[in-house]
Amino acid sequence: MGAQIALHIALHGYSVSLFDISEEQLRHADSTLRSLMSRKLTKGKVTQSEIDDAFNNLDYTTDIAQACHDADLVIEAIVEDLDIKRSLFQQLNQVAPDSAILATNSSSIVSSKLADSIDNAERLCNIHFFNPALVLPLVEVVQGPHTSDATVKAVIDFVKDIGKTPVHIEKEIFGFITNRILAVIFDEAISLYEQGVASIETIDTAVKAGLNHPLGPFELLDMTGIDVNYGIKVLQAEDSGDPTQGPSKTLTELYQKGLMGRKTGQGFYTYEKEKP
Ligand SMILES: NC(=O)c1ccc[n+]([C@@H]2O[C@H](COP(=O)([O-])OP(=O)(O)OC[C@H]3O[C@@H](n4cnc5c(N)ncnc54)[C@H](O)[C@@H]3O)[C@@H](O)[C@H]2O)c1
Repeated sequence: MGAQIALHIALHGYSVSLFDISEEQLRHADSTLRSLMSRKLTKGKVTQSEIDDAFNNLDYTTDIAQACHDADLVIEAIVEDLDIKRSLFQQLNQVAPDSAILATNSSSIVSSKLADSIDNAERLCNIHFFNPALVLPLVEVVQGPHTSDATVKAVIDFVKDIGKTPVHIEKEIFGFITNRILAVIFDEAISLYEQGVASIETIDTAVKAGLNHPLGPFELLDMTGIDVNYGIKVLQAEDSGDPTQGPSKTLTELYQKGLMGRKTGQGFYTYEKEKP
């Protein structure tokens, strides 16, 4: 996510530093981004000079102070682990300018869980991009109780400036808008399957052909990862205090067998050469 967010912003003329603790991940980010861009070039979606300008705007570093010392905005997109994120925000508090807006791209951790890691949490919010960030237009901007209106306005103006569609979420809630709606679709699809109402393929066909979704719920669960979706359900049950919101029987079985979807070649579907 971090790599694609960084390049998207660089493509819109901003100077961006992509920081990671792993040099290998930075090298991987550069090669992946370059091959994505050459595919876009072949399709005529971007020009060579736009690509060259974007890569000139983008630098890679494992030095957090170098990345952040003159930043106006820092978007954190590291592993989904609260303690690791909190320690990163403590570091950002030291190395980024006091005026910089600090944001997390987390899908499930609201920024109020990070607020006491920094001074002046008025400048802290969630900026939630969608995967793949170079393609999908939506960005959810989530205002915590600590986030100032000025921060939200600046972020929304910035998101529009990079050609994305911002939505302002005025209150923190687990899953924000889109992932909450998606969770209901996933739960219902799995429940229909577990009740023996229809097969996985039939449910996917119905959702695609009848609701005009590009992927069926089971195809999407496999694409985003059984492990990711299992983890989200565990957090949802914890967050709501309602154990019935936890992972379904089928999701738990796949997770326990290590069948994580496309990435392992098997989930709800079995994949051969990326094809279900
Ligand atoms: N994958 C998605 O579809 C998606 C969509 C929206 C939001 N998100 C959110 O984006 C964040 C990143 O998700 P991802 O799927 O890109 O994860 P990922 O595991 O692919 O990438 C995480 C990166 O963070 C780096 N990292 C780990 N600890 C670090 C630290 N202390 N400092 C700097 N870098 C560190 C890792 O080396 C790795 O390159 C998560 O918070 C996730 O909730 C993910």
